[in-house]
Amino acid sequence: MNEITYRKIVVERFGGAEAMKTVEATLGEPPPGHARIRVLAAGVGFTDLMARSGDYLLQRKVPFTPGYELVGEIVDFNTDDSPPAWLAPGARVAVALTKMGAYSEYVSLPLWQLVPLPEGLDPRLAATVPLDHLTALSVLETHGRVEAGDAVLIQGASGGVGQALSRLGGLRGLRMYGTASAPGGEELLARHGVTFIDYRRQDFETVLRKLEPAGVDAVFDHIGGPGLRKAYRVLAPGGVLVSYAFAGRPGHMVADTVRGAMRVKLMNLRPGRRTALSMVPSEIKGDRKGYRERLGRLLDMAARGEITPRIGSVYPLMRAAEVHTALERREITGKAVLVTDR
Ligand SMILES: NC(=O)c1ccc[n+]([C@@H]2O[C@H](COP(=O)([O-])OP(=O)(O)OC[C@H]3O[C@@H](n4cnc5c(N)ncnc54)[C@H](OP(=O)(O)O)[C@@H]3O)[C@@H](O)[C@H]2O)c1
Repeated sequence: MNEITYRKIVVERFGGAEAMKTVEATLGEPPPGHARIRVLAAGVGFTDLMARSGDYLLQRKVPFTPGYELVGEIVDFNTDDSPPAWLAPGARVAVALTKMGAYSEYVSLPLWQLVPLPEGLDPRLAATVPLDHLTALSVLETHGRVEAGDAVLIQGASGGVGQALSRLGGLRGLRMYGTASAPGGEELLARHGVTFIDYRRQDFETVLRKLEPAGVDAVFDHIGGPGLRKAYRVLAPGGVLVSYAFAGRPGHMVADTVRGAMRVKLMNLRPGRRTALSMVPSEIKGDRKGYRERLGRLLDMAARGEITPRIGSVYPLMRAAEVHTALERREITGKAVLVTDR
């Protein structure tokens, strides 16, 4: 039996970064329809921190390995079907996971989830693409259905998903307003052509009433709470509010998400404006072909330099706890990436 011994990060109990430990594990030969992958880089998202503290709607039970996105190299695979030309040992792939598990030196994954990496694309850069940018495409294309010239409000335009929305929104010719508060936020948003609204000092409804008196065509929101009503009010007739999280009150996110999702669905019953919910892990499972097409498209855009995610920090995988702590202290701006050292 050709077993691989490897290390992975495991959340042993819900809590702070110290709840993450390194453990040794073994990986047997891949079952039918699966590949074993040596992980090169894994992206870190805010969702990982929520799941670690036990405050996430699609919560894994402890012990679990966090991480929704990775880039790796195929070790071997098992299939009776004739494989596509690119599928071979040594081929590099990017993956968005549906049940987490990327903070690991090796993983076994279904073949349908693997998307080949374009030639020459840096694995670290590529590891920042899947979750944030698939979420942004889900919000813009599937749910927002926005078009060139539309005016949109991006809540938290300085965040991982917020920046992906800004990058892809700019390429689509959207007129963008974004809320943020982090130092350097105004310059960061300006780089993407987004008009900055400081949510600590300014009320976005007042600002937008002045700048977009007819209302905006879409609001993209991950905060939820009382801001949802305001977001709905700033929509132009026919406009859409797309919610992709309800993260405004850390520690209450599960309850807030259940309540928020119900509210958004009820709001959608009113005539004149639309609301929608984006939940990428379920969308990946529900449309495998669409997932591969979108991730492939995004990776090609990254390889051509059309989207250039900012890597804020690169850490060895075994120092994942330090990355979580630094993110919580807001010491990392840009996306954090974990890399394996074998
Ligand atoms: N639906 C899905 O499938 C899906 C997929 C991926 C992520 N998510 C969720 O999306 C959310 C964002 O994830 P992320 O990785 O982008 O997080 P992130 O990088 O931490 O970004 C969060 C952003 O929210 C901003 N923010 C905080 N409080 C705000 C407020 N009151 N008003 C406006 N903006 C505010 C922050 O801005 P400043 O730092 O400038 O203050 C920050 O830019 C998380 O809840 C995550 O779980 C959902």
